[in-house]
Amino acid sequence: MDRIRIKGGNELNGVIPISGAKNAALPLMIASLLTDDTLTLENVPHLADVEQLIRILGNHGVDISVNGRRERQGESYARTIHFTCRNIVDTTAPYELVSKMRASFWVIGPLLAREGQARVSLPGGCAIGTRPVDLFIEGLKALGAEIEIDSGYINATAPKGGLIGARYVFPKVSVGATHVLMMAATRARGTTVIGNAAREPEVVDLATCLNAMGAKISGAGTSTITIEGVSTLSGARHRVLPDRIETGTYAMAVAMTGGDVTLEGTDGALLETALEAIRRAGAEITKTESGLRVVRNGGGIKPVDVVTDPFPGFPTDLQAQFMGLMTKSSGVSHITETIFENRFMHVQELARLGARISLSGQTAKIEGVPKLKGAPVMATDLRASVSLVIAGLAAEGETMVSRVYHLDRGFERLEEKLTRCGAIVERVSE
Ligand code: UD1
Repeated sequence: MDRIRIKGGNELNGVIPISGAKNAALPLMIASLLTDDTLTLENVPHLADVEQLIRILGNHGVDISVNGRRERQGESYARTIHFTCRNIVDTTAPYELVSKMRASFWVIGPLLAREGQARVSLPGGCAIGTRPVDLFIEGLKALGAEIEIDSGYINATAPKGGLIGARYVFPKVSVGATHVLMMAATRARGTTVIGNAAREPEVVDLATCLNAMGAKISGAGTSTITIEGVSTLSGARHRVLPDRIETGTYAMAVAMTGGDVTLEGTDGALLETALEAIRRAGAEITKTESGLRVVRNGGGIKPVDVVTDPFPGFPTDLQAQFMGLMTKSSGVSHITETIFENRFMHVQELARLGARISLSGQTAKIEGVPKLKGAPVMATDLRASVSLVIAGLAAEGETMVSRVYHLDRGFERLEEKLTRCGAIVERVSE
């Protein structure tokens, strides 16, 4: 199993290209099930989760061809991928595939919309809380689906003639359930209004792509999304938006080590709340023509309190990384997690590097320490793993991160991107 070895202490200076967003690419790929035409996605990141979803979609009958190309010599491996699903050959998403990645559960929406039925295993994914699927079930039921749970599977059936547009207000904001209901409603009869919808940029990206495919969606990016059903969708060409979590992660890494890095190909508007927190911690962040420039010279890291919230709040997917940064602040900070109940597994690993963190319910209190010391640590989930990298970059001596397969699910060529900016990071394969 691969590990990542980091020798801490170097500043980061240079350019880091930001990849296409994993969390947009996954639902966009799933949207290919809604049409028998070709959906072409540009700027698809090369990640383990994308590869896994390619296998899952193949199982349903999607023909996939990948054009690997370097967009700029040596800097980005963004890929263009063509998805064509002439016929859905299987409406079952089996446990062996779905349990590896929670988002693959989302195929339930398009399968139901196009074929009138789906049998999808209950999901797995990151071990960050119980992550139920009740919101998906209630949302799809509102469109007329009959749903039963049997032996770990959800069996969903649409009424004769297909799903029926309806008004449904989510009792809680869910990104995945918003994606699924939006996709299912594109081909329902009549109009669907989703209340308390997720407002994440990835929801907007999916709506933009679906509209390019002929859907009639308005209001994406607000909490009320209206979808007028259409009978068929066509193909389209769409560029995946930049990864705001990768952007925030590298901005925090620079704030941690000091230095001057341009994050290329990204857009600060996707993560204003997080950037504001990083600025308050002491980094200067400015817009450039190609993205963002992050600088921290001289001054130390200031303590900043944050509370995670659905978009436009501080993203839960940057919580662990921000905690990594706060471990070296000059005072006491508090981080409150409101989205997932068990998303503090990085705390004990950060403590191995010398961080002083105590937990009380959903709030972590971080007492900044002047220095961290390298140690062997274990990645526990996708975002937690990269918080250990951030801490390792600023720790004295060597940090060895094991279980980096978590990292490979969501960060494209991390060690290469960091090394080019002066960090000493290498992958050790055994
Ligand atoms: C997506 C992101 C993930 C991010 C999360 C929150 C992808 C592939 N993943 O995950 O990186 O951390 O949004 O921004 O885009 N919930 C229920 N019932 C449900 C569904 C969700 O109670 O049926 C709860 C969850 O347990 C959680 C909250 O709702 O407490 C938000 O989860 P949700 O927005 O659905 O997360 P995902 O879409 O799975």
